[in-house]
Amino acid sequence: MSFLEVNNSLCVEGVPLLDIARDYGTPAYVYSSSQIIKNFDNYFSSIRKDDKICFSVKSNSNIHILELLANKGSGFDVVSSGELRKCLIAGGKPENIVFSGVGKSIEDIELALKEEIFSINIESEAELDRIIEIAKKNGAIAQCSFRLNPDISAGSHPFVETGGKSSKFGLSKTNALGAAKKAENSGVIKIKGIASHVGSQISKKEIVIKNLDFLMQTKKDFQEAGIILNNINIGGGLGISYKGEDQLIPSDVLKEVVDKLALTNTNLIVEPGRSIVGKAGILLTKLEYLKRTETSNFAIIDAGMNDLIRPSLYNAWHNIRTIEKSENSNEEFNIVGPICESADVMGEKRGLSLTKDSILAILDAGAYGHVMSSNYNSRPRPPEILVDDCEVRLIRRRESFQDLISTQTNL
Ligand code: LLP
Repeated sequence: MSFLEVNNSLCVEGVPLLDIARDYGTPAYVYSSSQIIKNFDNYFSSIRKDDKICFSVKSNSNIHILELLANKGSGFDVVSSGELRKCLIAGGKPENIVFSGVGKSIEDIELALKEEIFSINIESEAELDRIIEIAKKNGAIAQCSFRLNPDISAGSHPFVETGGKSSKFGLSKTNALGAAKKAENSGVIKIKGIASHVGSQISKKEIVIKNLDFLMQTKKDFQEAGIILNNINIGGGLGISYKGEDQLIPSDVLKEVVDKLALTNTNLIVEPGRSIVGKAGILLTKLEYLKRTETSNFAIIDAGMNDLIRPSLYNAWHNIRTIEKSENSNEEFNIVGPICESADVMGEKRGLSLTKDSILAILDAGAYGHVMSSNYNSRPRPPEILVDDCEVRLIRRRESFQDLISTQTNL
């Protein structure tokens, strides 16, 4: 394991987090390189030669992390030209990049065409029209897939469900078929396959299989209409254990998926995000004040909802612990950040033993952590630190006050 206690002190790949807090300050995101690679390998070792694992860049888009994954053979799932450009800088191969998202801009599509990425995943008829127009204008052939709405629930928080019938994502089967015929007739689209992402933080294998069955049936329906598809993209979404819940093992899930696909002449694409980086990162923070009121004990820390928004936005539970183990008995605290919002609560009623100088770790913060951070309350965003077998690398410096004001004009 990447985050382990040594002599009662929490370490990352053998490096005490206390040293990292001292050298880089807090709040700071810290990642374990070996954990990221191990999680990726659990996927990669289970696929066949022409299948692809496309890491979902929205979960963590630091270029150094993308580079780590690209070097291991990862493809990428992107949702903006910014993410696409990051992948290219990181050494990602265009033929291993898929581009999803309901609102692709003209710039997004032009870049995807120019770079000849593996697939633009079309989410509406209007988007198809735009792609045809741009491809014709540029004399390009657009490699595309159709993202379908499977009408399946992921069984997770409503904000991270994407496969329900009323969601903005994907096309219905009928509309996808109509769009595919139009795409074929356009002469500028090469149809690669179909895709469907049910949602995030999935905890049951049956949901993944249900989505796969839906896609396999859709492939057959397309075939009957004369459209041959070579690729099925089952999206991402495998959950991780934040609170000791059971966690799906990617290799177990993929084994079943690959078995089902055998004999169908179909390549598989998977787009995991959280399950690769989630448990490989923590947010390091320090206690600013203890505040005891008539109703509660507050532990006010220096990381706020601008640094990690998951608890405030999704009511998400993250384990919070002190870096150093204490002999003293625990007290119950509401752990809150410095932001002027009552929702800035990282954890409620947590039993901890805190002292004036406590350094804490908010665990499992590697996915949807720094990428969702903001400058709210004019706070500079935290640095990111990647630890690789005792080597500690600053992979994003802390923002400065100058960074905060650098885009404001006429100062
Ligand atoms: N593919 C598509 C098309 C997606 O929309 C997503 C995530 C993924 C793959 C990767 O899903 P994952 O393996 O990471 O579950 N901010 C939320 C999660 C939003 C997920 C959005 N889509 C959170 O912090 O829980």
